[in-house]
Amino acid sequence: MSSVSSVVSKPAALYGGATGRRVTVRDIAAAKERHEKWPMVTAYDAMTARVFDEAGIPVMLVGDSAAMVVYGYDSTLPVTVDDLIPLTAAVVRGSSRAMVVADLPFGSYQASPQQALETAARFVKEAGAHAVKLEGGHRVLPQVEMLVSAGIPVMAHLGLTPQSVNAFGGYRVQGRGQAGDEIMADAKALEHAGAFAVVLECVPADLAQRVTASLSIPTIGIGAGPHTDAQVLVWQDLMGLTPRPAKFVKKYFDLAGEMDRAIRAYADEVVSGVFPTPEHSYR
Ligand code: KIV
Repeated sequence: MSSVSSVVSKPAALYGGATGRRVTVRDIAAAKERHEKWPMVTAYDAMTARVFDEAGIPVMLVGDSAAMVVYGYDSTLPVTVDDLIPLTAAVVRGSSRAMVVADLPFGSYQASPQQALETAARFVKEAGAHAVKLEGGHRVLPQVEMLVSAGIPVMAHLGLTPQSVNAFGGYRVQGRGQAGDEIMADAKALEHAGAFAVVLECVPADLAQRVTASLSIPTIGIGAGPHTDAQVLVWQDLMGLTPRPAKFVKKYFDLAGEMDRAIRAYADEVVSGVFPTPEHSYR
């Protein structure tokens, strides 16, 4: 009889690989060992999550960017745990393979490791999140250690951490020159504290390359150049729904334009009486 550990099978690729189960932190660590790149994307609702899941996206982030793209605020600061839990639960329900990472919003973890644990536990118990993400370096190490010791996988986030926009004086590139050493030190400390991955946002590409080479956990870039292990984008940005996306965004579709054409066609047909036809009516 073969034990579980003696079964040797070729590992499925993280992107698109058919595992027949949820992606785990072990799959993500194995992808780093294989030098395999992978895509991450945000999701905030069940139907969109289903499309991305079926496309093979291995990790979906219910970002606090929901503050801006779902709730219409002009920063991520106002969104609350109660705002994000239903969105996270919807993304978990809409997916069957992706790991779903819940972003801990501003003010829900900074006060203490205890506060971080209480918040993260709500995302795990009430929404079914498989991991959480929080922003910051040295100042959040006790929080990361507490969550990891409680069995909650933690994704870290360095560079342009949008919850600190007021301290940065705007959304600007971080880690140029000497400041890069601090990001490198933070990344290593977060890995040591037990984070399973680290997002690098808006940092110079060469710094992201050095951090990626120095860590055994994957780096996930957003505006961090081509050398990170993974990339993440907000889905509304890459699909062309966001009116003025950042320089680092590549637009893969003109969703705003397509929706505009469709909604006008529908409205015109209602006004002219072309819709509905017998085909769309019951006898
Ligand atoms: O909130 C978010 O969407 C994020 C990603 C863009 C990294 O933090």
